Parts: sequence; structure tokens; C-alpha cells
Amino acid sequence: MSYSYATHLECSLTGESHDIGRLQGLSAAGKPLLARYDLAAVRREVAREDIESRAADLWRWHELLPLPGPDARVSLGEIETPLVPLARSERPAGFRPPLVKDEGRLPTGSFKARGLCIAVSMAAVHGVRRVAIPTNGNAGAAMAAYAARAGMEAFCFCPEDTPEINLSEIALQGARVWRVNGLINDCARLVASGTARNGWFDMSTLKEPYRIEGKKTMGLELAVQCRWRLAQAVFYPTGGGTGLIGMWKAWQELTELGWIEGPLPRLIAVQASGCAPIVRAFDSGAETATPWENAHTCAAGIRVPAALGDFLILRALRESAGCALAVPDEAIEAARAHVAASDGLLLSPEGAATYAAYLEAARSGRIAPADEVVLFNCASGLKYPMPPVTERTSA
Ligand SMILES: Cc1ncc(COP(=O)(O)O)c(C=O)c1O
Repeated sequence: MSYSYATHLECSLTGESHDIGRLQGLSAAGKPLLARYDLAAVRREVAREDIESRAADLWRWHELLPLPGPDARVSLGEIETPLVPLARSERPAGFRPPLVKDEGRLPTGSFKARGLCIAVSMAAVHGVRRVAIPTNGNAGAAMAAYAARAGMEAFCFCPEDTPEINLSEIALQGARVWRVNGLINDCARLVASGTARNGWFDMSTLKEPYRIEGKKTMGLELAVQCRWRLAQAVFYPTGGGTGLIGMWKAWQELTELGWIEGPLPRLIAVQASGCAPIVRAFDSGAETATPWENAHTCAAGIRVPAALGDFLILRALRESAGCALAVPDEAIEAARAHVAASDGLLLSPEGAATYAAYLEAARSGRIAPADEVVLFNCASGLKYPMPPVTERTSA
């Protein structure tokens, strides 16, 4: 039995094979590379019961991850995140309580830990010493933490209005961090233009092959938590889309292994009305998205005007018979306040967007009362600004 069954990297557009033994960025065609595994061998040599018998963390999936061995792990304790039912928050009559997959419990308080722990581990395997990233906040915080742990130098570029706490956590975790007078795509250009000059390895979403492998564990985890019979619909707050593409990849791999029972979930991409390039492309039947103009939303993590993996996101939505929904900032803020007060779960604005979209999908008949629904809350609500408290009293 091998620790990893990874065999090669494949161009997501052309299918061309690339050497997994070397440090790789984009494919020769300039598109994301996807890790491929010898799934026939996994099927022969590993049983799903083997996975179930291991400690419930990200590393129980090592056969389906690219690390060559346990010593290559750069880890801060990546636990399996819980599914928390919203039993008291509003839902249409007859509907089952939606389950929130609460990714805020991970190291650095967000799901970005999944992708960056695998990406930094693999970069370390290939001898990388300096990593750089454009980030709306959470990815930079996770990269800074794992880079510190790996003894690498880290460089983060954030849009001007990135939540203050993200900038502070990045800096405290030993990285250099800059505010940039632009959006994430402008930050990405700064990183790309500095790689050769500064010897940085570019950790941008989908520009290296392993963040998506870490994100894939969200889909693997859901399968084991749902006892291999997945929910009917999964709502995902979609920016660069790595999580969505990663989950779809996870379920394809599990299907090929014969480990999943019943149909796969419908994937529902949730965006903010002020930045909804995927919704626009999905609704118009397009295969790629045109960049969104004047992107704005209080949900910083999903303010991504143009996603490198747009065609992969749209493909996953269509293959899963899902859809894409946009919700206004007012609905996001109201959802966040409502779920916190009624169920005691403080969501991130991005997570609150999925609850707002769930209500909309239920009202419009996109989901049925009997459907089991999972909403992704990708970061702890504590990482975001909250309304001030003004009441005072005398002692
Ligand atoms: C809290 C939160 N939710 C959702 C997203 C979007 O994730 P993805 O890039 O996988 O679409 C981000 C990305 O920054 C985020 O920080």
C-alpha cells in the first residue's frame, strides 16, 4: 500500500499530462493543473472502512492527496469540521433544517487552511523558500501561518478594504503584507509580475495544483459524514471557486472508487448581487464568465470579478444539475444577524449569503421540502466587523 496514489498532473483544458515529480504552476496551455490518482489501485487496496477507522481529520484521506509521506505534512491540526443543523432559524414550512458545514473551526479560522496546508507542504517538498499570494484576507492568513510553520518567507497582497483582522493576523504570523489600491485581480497581477524578480512561488488560486486538492477534502469529508449517501443540494459561496471545483472532483473520485451510494448533490454557487460573474454566465448559458465591472459586496471572500477556473465552476454546476444564485448585501447582513440570534451560530458574511440563497431557492422551488441541504460557512464570523454596541449602564 502506498501513502499517496497520485500519478501525474493533467491540464484541465487539454488533458495533457505533466510531471508530478516537479514543481509546477499552470499547464503548458496556461490553465489549471489537476492531480490525478491511480484510482483502480486505491479501489483494490483501500476500503472505505479503512478511512472510517482513522482519526477524523484531513490526513485520513492521504491516499487521495499528493503528499509523498507523513513527514511531508506541514500541519496545524486540520480537524474534520462539524455539520450544525439550523433548527431554529427561519425556513419555509415543511422544509428540513439545513446543515451548516462550519469551516470556521479550522486553523486560522477558515477553510483556506485546507488548501494552503497541502499547497505549502508540497511547495516545501519541492524546495520552495518564498511564497506569494493575492488574497481577500483568509487565504493570506492561512498561507502566512503554514509558511511560518515550514520556515518559508511569505508575501501577501490584499485589496485596500480587506478586513483589518486579516491584515493583522497575516502580519503577526510573520508574513510581509501590503494593501493595494485595487481588487484581487489587481493584486494577482502584482504577484505575477514579481515572481521572476523576487524568486516567489505564486500561490494564487488554481495557479498551482495543490490548493484544490486540500479543498477537495470538504467533499470527501461530507461523504463520510453523510455515511456515503450525500445531501441533495450543497450551497457554496463562490469566489475563485476552488472549493466548488474541489468538491466536484472529490465526488468524481469517490464515484470511481465505488464508495458513494445514491446520486451526487446539486451544486449551487452563491454570489453577491454586486459581484456575480458566475451567475451571469450560468444564466446566459456561457462556458466562461466575463469579468464583473465595479465589483462590490460586504462579503469580501466572494468579491472575485474574474475567476481563472470559471469554466470548471460552470462545468461542475451544469454536470451536477445545480445552478447559481446572487443575493444582495442587505439579505446577507440580515441572514447573518438572524442566524446568530436564533441559532447561536455566528456566520461569516459569505456563509450568511448561502443561508439567504437557501431561503430564495426554497421560495422559488429550486429545492424541495424533503431535500437534505448543506450550507458552507467557510470562515469564522469572528473574523469580520460587527455592529457596535452602544448601550451603557452604571455600576
Ligand atoms: C469566507 C470565504 N468564503 C468563500 C470564499 C470563496 O471561496 P472559493 O475561492 O473557493 O470560491 C472565500 C475566499 O476567499 C472566503 O474567504
